[in-house]
Amino acid sequence: MKRIRVEIAPGVETEFVDRDRALAQVVEWAEKSTRWPVVIFGPEGCGKTAFLRQSMVMLRELGYDVFYLHPLDRVFAAEVDDADVKSLFVDLVRRTLEDERWGRLALAVFDLVREILKRRRRKIAIIADDVFQAIGLDKAAAYVKGLLNTIEHPVYKYEKIVVLVATSEGMSRSEIGRHRWADIMPMWNMPREGFRQLYERIPGPKPSFEEVWRLTGGNPEMLLRLYKAGWNAEEVVLRLMQNKQLSAEFVSRWRRWLEAAVEDPEALWSPDAPKELIKQLVEKNLIVYNMYDRRPSFWVDQPPPEKDPELGTGKNVAWQTPIHREAVRRALKEGS
Ligand SMILES: Nc1ncnc2c1ncn2[C@@H]1O[C@H](COP(=O)(O)OP(=O)(O)OP(=O)(O)O)[C@@H](O)[C@H]1O
Ligand SMILES: [Mg+2]
Repeated sequence: MKRIRVEIAPGVETEFVDRDRALAQVVEWAEKSTRWPVVIFGPEGCGKTAFLRQSMVMLRELGYDVFYLHPLDRVFAAEVDDADVKSLFVDLVRRTLEDERWGRLALAVFDLVREILKRRRRKIAIIADDVFQAIGLDKAAAYVKGLLNTIEHPVYKYEKIVVLVATSEGMSRSEIGRHRWADIMPMWNMPREGFRQLYERIPGPKPSFEEVWRLTGGNPEMLLRLYKAGWNAEEVVLRLMQNKQLSAEFVSRWRRWLEAAVEDPEALWSPDAPKELIKQLVEKNLIVYNMYDRRPSFWVDQPPPEKDPELGTGKNVAWQTPIHREAVRRALKEGS
């Protein structure tokens, strides 16, 4: 199987590393079809996009016609056998890039799938990365329903079908989860040994692996941010703190709960934890609330351990990475 090339920092390219279990899951989906659209969520920067790009190449190798949509990055591809459908798609993409009506393109994929199935029965994959942000969270559930219809009630028969969707939007999970239209699967940061492989590919002098693991919890994006910041962790933390708009007001309003959560995220699982705070922490992509049962069949790739106090992972609530927790800790300190 071909591994894609990824640019991990300006001028630093490597191949897609590890995620062996996740890739085996793609092969399994390709053999069986996905019964529901698989909606993958997980910490920001954990590697969802890289995984979907790798999946696209694998599915193609496995004989699939693949539609790939990643509106946020303006990347669209129709890796299909029919040249005319491909050029139709390219044309649609070009027009969409002009007027930014991503929803129309996302919907057009349904028509294109129908069009190529009309010609002959075959294996079809639709891979949609972060489409909800582009089409609007309010339309997320409807879109997933459309994907489910493509699986359940195809106008023309397919041989196999694989539908993969990723979202880094914390709220889309509850929006989609209200219906039974998808198989919602979490994906976590990289497992330790896989992450070590990525760490080893970073050039130049660097802190020990142990230290980088403790800082990032295996999140590839955080590894790359640290590298780009010359391994100045404080800079990365401060920048995140600013991005997340952890204002003095926010911190003072929720101080007591935030202090408890920094010590142990599970504090937010207590029945009297304020719902408004939890909502904001989820929206800001700081925590994952309601972690799944750790049985591997529920997860894409390997699940995180049941509990890891050092990294800020609790049984039901987890900081997305230790740096996210650090940003909150820092905001608490500055606000005091
Ligand atoms: N398995 C991997 N091998 C090599 N590089 C990886 C791997 N996973 C992720 N990366 C790199 O780490 C960075 C973050 O990954 P990626 O963008 O896929 O995360 P994401 O979960 O899609 O993030 P977001 O939530 O922001 O959408 C990227 O530069 C990506 O190329
Ligand atoms: Mg992404």
